[in-house]
Amino acid sequence: MRPGCVAYLCLGLAIGIAQAIRNGTSSEPVTLTVAREGGNKSSPLLFGVMFEEMDHSGDGGIHGQLLQNNGFQGTSLGMTSYAPVGNTEISQDTLNPVSDAITSSLKVSVPDNATEYVGFANTGYMGIPVMNHTYKSSFWMNGKYSGTINLKLIGSQSGIVYADHNLTVESTDSAFKQFKTSFNSSASPNGDNEWHLTLDGSKAAGSSLNFGYIQLFPPTYQDRENGLRDDLATVLSRVNSTFLRFPGGNNIEGLEIDTRWKWNTTIGPLVDRPGRESDWFYPNTDALGLDEYLWWCEDMKMAPLLAVWAGKSYGGIVSGSDLDPFVEDIMNEMEYLFGSEETQYGKMRVQNGRKEPWKIDYVEIGNEDDLTGGCDTYPDRFTQIYNAIHDKYPNIALVASNGNYSCLPPALPENVIIDLHLYRQPDDFVALFNQFDNQPRNQSVMVGEYGCRNTSSALGDYWSFMQGSCSEAVYMIGMERNSDIVQMAAYAPLLEHFGFISWSPTMYGFNSSPESITPSTSYYVQKMFSSNKGNTVLPVNSTADFGPLYWVATKTDSKYYVKLANYASDEQNVTVSIPKTESGRLEMLSGSQNEGNQPYNVTVLPVTTKLKGDHGNYSVTMAPWAVAVLVAM
Ligand SMILES: *[C@@H]1O[C@H](CO)[C@@H](O)[C@H](O)[C@H]1NC(C)=O
Ligand SMILES: *[C@@H]1O[C@H](CO)[C@@H](O)[C@H](O)[C@H]1NC(C)=O
Ligand SMILES: *[C@@H]1O[C@H](CO)[C@@H](O)[C@H](O)[C@H]1NC(C)=O
Ligand SMILES: *[C@@H]1O[C@H](CO)[C@@H](O)[C@H](O)[C@H]1NC(C)=O
Ligand SMILES: *[C@@H]1O[C@H](CO)[C@@H](O)[C@H](O)[C@H]1NC(C)=O
Ligand SMILES: *[C@@H]1O[C@H](CO)[C@@H](O)[C@H](O)[C@H]1NC(C)=O
Ligand SMILES: *[C@@H]1O[C@H](CO)[C@@H](O)[C@H](O)[C@H]1NC(C)=O
Ligand SMILES: *[C@@H]1O[C@H](CO)[C@@H](O)[C@H](O)[C@H]1NC(C)=O
Ligand SMILES: *[C@@H]1O[C@H](CO)[C@@H](O)[C@H](O)[C@H]1NC(C)=O
Ligand SMILES: *[C@@H]1O[C@H](CO)[C@@H](O)[C@H](O)[C@H]1NC(C)=O
Ligand SMILES: *[C@@H]1O[C@H](CO)[C@@H](O)[C@H](O)[C@H]1NC(C)=O
Ligand SMILES: *[C@@H]1O[C@H](CO)[C@@H](O)[C@H](O)[C@H]1NC(C)=O
Repeated sequence: MRPGCVAYLCLGLAIGIAQAIRNGTSSEPVTLTVAREGGNKSSPLLFGVMFEEMDHSGDGGIHGQLLQNNGFQGTSLGMTSYAPVGNTEISQDTLNPVSDAITSSLKVSVPDNATEYVGFANTGYMGIPVMNHTYKSSFWMNGKYSGTINLKLIGSQSGIVYADHNLTVESTDSAFKQFKTSFNSSASPNGDNEWHLTLDGSKAAGSSLNFGYIQLFPPTYQDRENGLRDDLATVLSRVNSTFLRFPGGNNIEGLEIDTRWKWNTTIGPLVDRPGRESDWFYPNTDALGLDEYLWWCEDMKMAPLLAVWAGKSYGGIVSGSDLDPFVEDIMNEMEYLFGSEETQYGKMRVQNGRKEPWKIDYVEIGNEDDLTGGCDTYPDRFTQIYNAIHDKYPNIALVASNGNYSCLPPALPENVIIDLHLYRQPDDFVALFNQFDNQPRNQSVMVGEYGCRNTSSALGDYWSFMQGSCSEAVYMIGMERNSDIVQMAAYAPLLEHFGFISWSPTMYGFNSSPESITPSTSYYVQKMFSSNKGNTVLPVNSTADFGPLYWVATKTDSKYYVKLANYASDEQNVTVSIPKTESGRLEMLSGSQNEGNQPYNVTVLPVTTKLKGDHGNYSVTMAPWAVAVLVAM
């Protein structure tokens, strides 16, 4: 995903747009009669999400670690986020690396006449969320010092101290040593906070000490070590997404071949992960690495869809026999994920804390290879990688990174899924409602990225708004009606830190201050659709054509789910008839056309009402631009 490189529709999928978008001025009541059987199976994985490190969605986002530039990784940050505390000088020191991977440390020079505590501050990702929580903190240290280290969480402007904690350390100048501690904090009313590390200047006067790879964690999701921020992860877990597509997206590709996402530099001890300058022009720490993504999926019961690097970066492409070593690298990655303890890479996985092989049923080969110069070589690159993986792991479903048949092998192997990406304006999404209706049923599709954007502005719409989210719902209804071929659909992107936006809107956002977590209107559409999905799509008879009202009905056993979207500025009365059911629950999201949720002002929320069925008939008034789910039994 990148302005200007949005994948268009695939050639193979001819699009017949049956009906114009009707804006429903008459609002004749519509009756929908849901059949009790007779439909197609729907894909159990249909509604998922896509994650890549962008907008500080990972570092400073859903990954728990709160201090920025904590290992001086990448090439763009310099001394960002650091400041001296007390009478001292601090600098980035490349002569004292913490490890082979973490090639700089922070030098704290203590003056001869120091008597007070001195040290340094880290201001986090535009501040630090300081809550009434237990925090874990750690740092590496090199230099002769025996005494107290003081850690604080403190208001940057206010000077209010929220946490004040001493630990006693014994460090030498022969090697870096790691110290870990935890402490409680009280809550700060705002995000304008920093972390301080100071030492007793009188014990170090005239000397210098080096600190490196500092970390600060609030409570993590399911208490995982090096885990996700509990508050941000919990908001995602409520969506009930069925799968996670990661780690990219553009961010797997690399601005250059050598700065691609390299799986084997994202595993093992954090201090051995070098990080990289990412595709979104800031360093990735890779603390959220291959295993962390997979723990995330497991903890949230999402199926992982892992992308592997397939030879394309923005700065160059590797193909032909030059790709062979990279194919071997992919096979090493597969062995790391699936190999037994007896294999070279399987053993590494076990050492890194995961005994059982990971369970991954879907692997995507590359990203958007129809774009940025990838088209010509992708058929061969795809085939090389497909053959290698499929030979050894025939049960993994492989995904081609685009749906443009001139960029794919002439005959795709059976069971390959093609991946379409769509960022569209609202009317355009609605026009694509029937995109999949008349497709051959033997070519499975994934919509690996989609989301409503106002592409007339370079940054897109800053916030999701009701008309846009309603258009996504219309498109999702179209996908669910066809989920015999549409296997998976991932809303994108997931998350943005409001202070670091290079692409918006996202499903939800946040910054360092309390109550900043903001679910968009699209978040609620995703949540309603993912949480209410039957395993069979049912035929529906109706008294009107699709537009401006759209619907799909599914069921599992005797539980029926009817999804509705009213893409119009008038309300629409609907009678939904589901014979032999008695009562229903109606969840509806509505708001005015341009209304959206904004930080500290979440105004559009789903409202749930109970409905009593009159002989299986339910009366629903769809507000303008409303999206609803009726669940009846
Ligand atoms: C498919 O790729 C070809 C080659 O790059 C390009 O000319 C064509 O416009 C693409 N088709 C679509 C629908 O994007
Ligand atoms: C429907 O309304 C939208 C604005 O909400 C407008 O852009 C579109 O052209 C209208 N379509 C028709 C068919 O009138
Ligand atoms: C839908 O309409 C068809 C054709 O009129 C009819 O055969 C079928 O029984 C109807 N289904 C339901 C559930 O009413
Ligand atoms: C089931 O799939 C067929 C196409 O194979 C389609 O014609 C039919 O409408 C689908 N049924 C439902 C209920 O969506
Ligand atoms: C330490 O010495 C410097 C000048 O070398 C002076 O500016 C500073 O005030 C002194 N600090 C203390 C705590 O005496
Ligand atoms: C802080 O959290 C503890 C434990 O959850 C709770 O008992 C206490 O009331 C909280 N204090 C404040 C100021 O919120
Ligand atoms: C930390 O140690 C210093 C020096 O002994 C002491 O003055 C300070 O009160 C201690 N702080 C805490 C929170 O224990
Ligand atoms: C920190 O808070 C937890 C509960 O939130 C409590 O169990 C623990 O005793 C506290 N630790 C300290 C050192 O106060
Ligand atoms: C990662 O794999 C590449 C290619 O196989 C290899 O050259 C490199 O040394 C490996 N890096 C680490 C840290 O193991
Ligand atoms: C959705 O997630 C919530 C919270 O994680 C869980 O309680 C609920 O059972 C899930 N619902 C479905 C339909 O999976
Ligand atoms: C929808 O039904 C309600 C009463 O059930 C009525 O007040 C309203 O006028 C109807 N709206 C339309 C557009 O017909
Ligand atoms: C909150 O949003 C609503 C609806 O968009 C708007 O009317 C209101 O002015 C906003 N309030 C604040 C404090 O921004």
